Amino acid sequence: MGIYSNTLFQLLLTVAALYVACTIPRQANPAQTNLLFYAHDRLTGDDATTVMIGGKAGHESNIFHFGSMVVMDCPVTEGPDAESREIGRAQGIYVNSQRDGKAVYVVFSVMFTAGEYEGSSLEIQGPDAFAMKQREFGVVSGTGRFRFARGFGILETEVMDLVKLRGTLKLNITVKHY
Ligand SMILES: *[C@@H]1O[C@H](CO)[C@@H](O)[C@H](O)[C@H]1NC(C)=O
Repeated sequence: MGIYSNTLFQLLLTVAALYVACTIPRQANPAQTNLLFYAHDRLTGDDATTVMIGGKAGHESNIFHFGSMVVMDCPVTEGPDAESREIGRAQGIYVNSQRDGKAVYVVFSVMFTAGEYEGSSLEIQGPDAFAMKQREFGVVSGTGRFRFARGFGILETEVMDLVKLRGTLKLNITVKHY
């Protein structure tokens, strides 16, 4: 009888411990993902990705002048070569936000359409002092796999034709998400 009630007591303790363990809200550790990809931004040419929508001279405005604003829909590729696999689109706007013309403010989404992150997106926001080799920006949210994402990225200009305004940008992003 003594042994029996002892076993019963242990069983009740185990059940109670399991109940507590299962009902305490769990603080899941965020996952961290590093992404490296390239965006191709072209203000001229038959394959232009970006158009001027306003500025001091209307549609003829120069992106290097304070107040000029463009809208873009840029291919995002795995490698620096524009012919490498397209894995998404970078869609949004940037506006020259510095009075001396040397920085733009960017706000855009990267929507992944192929590869590991297909169907998910990241929201990117921040200043881009484009004359610097490396610029850091914020990743403020995301969707799909990147829900609740927070992070940062480093932007580098891989190549840029300053006359034709056609270039390739490297984005190296680190995000925490659940
Ligand atoms: C990407 O960024 C991470 C963290 O900032 C850094 O450690 C890594 O070397 C970078 N990778 C490339 C290819 O630039």
